[in-house]
Amino acid sequence: MAEAKPFVIREMDRSHVPQVLEIERACYPAPWSESAFNHEMTSESSVDLVAMAGETVAGFLVGWIAADQVHVANIAVTAGHRRRGVGTEMMMRLIGEAVRRGCTSSSLEVRESNLAARSMYSRLGYHAVALRKSYYSNPAEDAVIMVKDLEA
Ligand SMILES: CC(C)(COP(=O)(O)OP(=O)(O)OC[C@H]1O[C@@H](n2cnc3c(N)ncnc32)[C@H](O)[C@@H]1OP(=O)(O)O)[C@@H](O)C(=O)NCCC(=O)NCCS
Repeated sequence: MAEAKPFVIREMDRSHVPQVLEIERACYPAPWSESAFNHEMTSESSVDLVAMAGETVAGFLVGWIAADQVHVANIAVTAGHRRRGVGTEMMMRLIGEAVRRGCTSSSLEVRESNLAARSMYSRLGYHAVALRKSYYSNPAEDAVIMVKDLEA
């Protein structure tokens, strides 16, 4: 019998937000606010996921669907749950939902120095298409724009 996964992917709801904010604040110098996450959950075009390890939020993802494109707006996994496939599984869930809703391509931005994230995205089939100069601040850095074709 296959071993049970130590985490499950669920839709984000308001009860997850305190833990999501903790992860967000630990990962990013300019974190999204509580109202930003609450607003996402009211938007039809937003796909908001959490990876739950029991009662603990191990990671979260926010994706934006616009016409036939899905954009990865925010993703993070707690330090203690990294390298266990949590990020990949949330991305695959987003892509599955986006394809179901008719999306044919996906895009995202990532800090040039963020080799962990870039490596995960490459393994998921994203490739770099452009650099957006000085896109990030604190510290200032270029963004790598990555895209993935979702058509079969
Ligand atoms: C990027 C991030 C979401 C990855 O989450 P994760 O759950 O650890 O990712 P996965 O376990 O699914 O990793 C998938 C693959 O990505 C690559 N990868 C992930 N982390 C890596 C690291 N630290 N170094 C090198 N490769 C890495 C590996 O190829 C990995 O496969 P492997 O573990 O079999 O070698 C996580 O590191 C994170 O939250 N970082 C801080 C926030 C962030 O940078 N978000 C992305 C902003 S664009």
